[in-house]
Amino acid sequence: MESIDTLQEQLLARVAASDNPTEVIKAPELAQLYAQIPTLPAEERGAFGKAVNELKQVIAAAVETRSEQLNTVELAPIDVTAPFDVNSAAPALMPARDGTLHPLTQEMEVVSDIFNRMGFVTEESREIDDQYHMFESLNFPKGHPARDDWDTFMTVETDGDGDPLIAPAHTSTMQNRALKKYKANLDEGRPIAVVVPDRTFRNEDLDARHEHTFYQVEGVYVNKGVHAGMLVATLQKFLEEYYGRKLTVRVNPFYFPFTEPSFEFALECPFCDDGCNVCSQSKWIELLGCGMIHPNVLKAAGIDSNEYSGFAFGCGIDRLVMMKHNIEDVRHFEAGKLNFLRQF
Ligand code: PHE
Repeated sequence: MESIDTLQEQLLARVAASDNPTEVIKAPELAQLYAQIPTLPAEERGAFGKAVNELKQVIAAAVETRSEQLNTVELAPIDVTAPFDVNSAAPALMPARDGTLHPLTQEMEVVSDIFNRMGFVTEESREIDDQYHMFESLNFPKGHPARDDWDTFMTVETDGDGDPLIAPAHTSTMQNRALKKYKANLDEGRPIAVVVPDRTFRNEDLDARHEHTFYQVEGVYVNKGVHAGMLVATLQKFLEEYYGRKLTVRVNPFYFPFTEPSFEFALECPFCDDGCNVCSQSKWIELLGCGMIHPNVLKAAGIDSNEYSGFAFGCGIDRLVMMKHNIEDVRHFEAGKLNFLRQF
């Protein structure tokens, strides 16, 4: 009987410490006590059996109490905002691959570097401008029909004259500023020589050759006695340096309000002898617009057009890069697709 009392103490301690107290009822010690009953002399059997039953009841009651207790235990609150399971190890740093500059950014540096070696300084354009710089200062007065050729994005907000602001449709929007900024060069007997490689925007119908956001490099050069031969030589030298080979170029008459005469500048296709996809089977690639700076553009910057003359050009950079890397669709540049960008 004494052993029953000790066992009761042990089993109660087990119940109190257990997370799964019903297990204790199946304890082998208890089963052994029941197995002992039939082996006892008849006179002892009644009292022993009763004591074992009582023991079982005490344990069963304790199990019930403990189970209730466990069910009502307050669980530690879960922080659902934690970035990882607070009970697990902190995650290792995410795997990363080194990024690179965008292919157009890389190539604009190459373009800029070539012109810098020819004595041009590099200036930046802007992503919003007024109508004076985009048109008036470039000899497009208000209402000039050629304004429609630069199909632009405009803001609802207006400038001091009540005109909408414009997302520049060409880097020529910087000509007036560049001429004014470096005008003092002329007084010192040095030329104005500036390039502006930067982003431009047009309201285009998008296809493999047209994108609403694209890049141009503008060039302006002013000095005494500047002539069209210098323009052609400068552009040819630039392109030969960029593609690393001799090239044949062609100059056709064209029209821009801000140059007179104006030209369209084409390159003999460097990729084929008698027509390919890059040149649309024409053997020539139209690359850029250029010309001799119109006297009114010089005047708008306060430069005496009787004493000085100059040339200007505006070349699409996307086109140059597409030809260099054999990229078939201009829309890849703005698409942000990593499998395209990682190739550069
Ligand atoms: N701004 C013109 C264009 O975007 C190109 C150009 C620049 C032409 C400078 C002449 C002189 O088409």
